[in-house]
Amino acid sequence: MKDNSKLIEEIKALAKEKNAIILAHNYQVPEVQDIADLTGDSLALSIQASRTDADLIIFCGVHFMAEAASIVCPEKKVVIPVKEAGCAMADMLTAEQLKEFKARYPGLPVVTYVNSSAAVKAESDICCTSANAVQVVKWTRAREVIMTPDRNLAAWVRRHTDQVVHAWNGYCPIHDELAVKEVKLAMEEHPGAVLMAHPECTEEVLKLADVVRSTSGMLDYARSSDREEFIVATENGLLHALQKENPGKRFYAVSPKMICTDMKKTGLEEILSALKDEAPVVKVPEETRIRAYKAVERMLEVPRD
Ligand code: 13P
Ligand code: SF4
Repeated sequence: MKDNSKLIEEIKALAKEKNAIILAHNYQVPEVQDIADLTGDSLALSIQASRTDADLIIFCGVHFMAEAASIVCPEKKVVIPVKEAGCAMADMLTAEQLKEFKARYPGLPVVTYVNSSAAVKAESDICCTSANAVQVVKWTRAREVIMTPDRNLAAWVRRHTDQVVHAWNGYCPIHDELAVKEVKLAMEEHPGAVLMAHPECTEEVLKLADVVRSTSGMLDYARSSDREEFIVATENGLLHALQKENPGKRFYAVSPKMICTDMKKTGLEEILSALKDEAPVVKVPEETRIRAYKAVERMLEVPRD
């Protein structure tokens, strides 16, 4: 195995010197998760970052996550180590497309998943995460809502409310392509395991799951469960955190294909360059930021069940 100790030392020293904080999403490669000051889901990371006194945020994740940090921490410099790290689902909806979609349903509240660009959030009334989508839609008290960009998260919400949900036809290719056949095979291989699935999976897959949770929700569930084996139906990067936190339990990837290549673009060398250059910077223009922030702020007002 490669010895990264010098690189790690250099990153830590430079981060300290520059009063920087390193954030890593739960899908990042193990060495990036291990060096991060904070790991978690995209929104939780940004909110935690806004509460620190760091001047510089190195966001190891994909572009919309760095934008989310820029939305909630406008006074901090936000750097994404790999500029090209994007999210296929977020790219499936532009602000222009959302404006046209809204025109088809005048007056309906727009609930937008955090996996979206800042410009799309700015066109939305309220944001949601995979952890609180059902509560957010219920909280609107509207008989009908628009949900973007994930059709699978929208279908999950539909199953849990009696509201009418008009969904944009976006999806995460990694979660959406997971087939029922593959899930059943994993269940046969590990008959005693709990099946945990992310709501970005299709409705057919979610019907097989014992628990449906966001990445942070799966970590909470595994930590407090007295069960010992778990099949994990989400991006495989989460297995590192699950295994690290629960050394006595066993976690199985539902399929080796659950890899988001954009999430794997960031390594230690990229983090070091980002710290040295303080680039590439992600900065949401102020006019967009203010409108996007309102949608995020409204979500934060929604009480958790
Ligand atoms: P979480 O918000 O559950 O971490 O999910 C983010 C994501 O990109 C899922 O594909
Ligand atoms: Fe986007 Fe899917 Fe990758 Fe998550 S796993 S960042 S939704 S492409």
